[in-house]
Amino acid sequence: MSDIFTQVQSAQTALDAETPATAEALEQFRIRYLGSKGLIKSLMEEMRTVPNERKREFGQLVNALKQGAETKFQEAKTVLEAQAEQASAQAFDLTAPGEPLPIGARHPIAITMNRIIEIFGRIGFAVADGPEIEHDWYNFTAMNTPEDHPARDMQDTFYVVDAPGMLLRTHTSNVQARVMTTRKPPIRIIAPGRVYRNETISARSHAQFHQVEGLYIDEGVSFADMKQTLLYFAQEMFGAPKIRLRPSFFPFTEPSAEMDVWLGTDTEENYRLTKGTGWLEILGCGMVDPQVLENCGIDSRQYSGFAFGMGIERQALRLFNIPDIRLLFENDVRMLRQFAAAV
Ligand code: PHE
Repeated sequence: MSDIFTQVQSAQTALDAETPATAEALEQFRIRYLGSKGLIKSLMEEMRTVPNERKREFGQLVNALKQGAETKFQEAKTVLEAQAEQASAQAFDLTAPGEPLPIGARHPIAITMNRIIEIFGRIGFAVADGPEIEHDWYNFTAMNTPEDHPARDMQDTFYVVDAPGMLLRTHTSNVQARVMTTRKPPIRIIAPGRVYRNETISARSHAQFHQVEGLYIDEGVSFADMKQTLLYFAQEMFGAPKIRLRPSFFPFTEPSAEMDVWLGTDTEENYRLTKGTGWLEILGCGMVDPQVLENCGIDSRQYSGFAFGMGIERQALRLFNIPDIRLLFENDVRMLRQFAAAV
């Protein structure tokens, strides 16, 4: 009987003399004293062999042993962790050469967009921004395209089921309304961004694409100002010697036009892109309809302006000789890497 008491006693003495100094020693310590097959557990099981009048004393001794082991375990653990942390901080060599990061390339659409922004920036157009998930009012109604207007059919889009009135914008023209309702003329902005239409995806069109919107509002702005601005752009962007404005219709401009740039048919590429005509259509434009100015709180008797909206993809295809619009959205790095040098 006294045996079992002696065992507790010598376990306590051994514990007191011990301080685990490594992670392995600590784990051994834990298993030996506190593990499910450890010393303390097995001593507890001996309880039944202890006579009733000494059970209490025995229990107290084993409990003290257990608490001692737990405290010692925690203390040693804290010390070892601090040591490990310090060691790894020392192992971090600040003079070692850096890990090389693979250098990415700008997307051809971003490159094209930046060129457009840069050209208009030179003649005083600042970049403006608007949301892609837009309220019907900014995308259509303010732009003189009320509900049930047939022009909405040409720009079917994706609607947000849980939020009535919200849709994916069909053009960057929503930024016109966003800017006109919050700023006073003179306004001279371009608004690049992503737009959406409910369209079948093919080599020439996609349900998501990019546009750059332009808007110029001031006193006495004329159609001639628009034509000169767009000619400047065509020359800078395409080196095109001439542009062509064809009468067209947009609900938010009057008169409206579509603009083609002259590329010619000398190269096979230009022949294909212009479908043999030499002319590449790149944008829609026109004088801002007075009703749009009024919708946005601008006095149409005092101010006039012009607006234009151009697709970016077709310009990117031409700039980089890309044969299929879908290549722009597949994010295949083998294709994208080729533009690393183009900036
Ligand atoms: N928003 C028109 C479109 O997406 C383009 C446009 C913009 C036309 C501004 C005129 C003025 O087709």
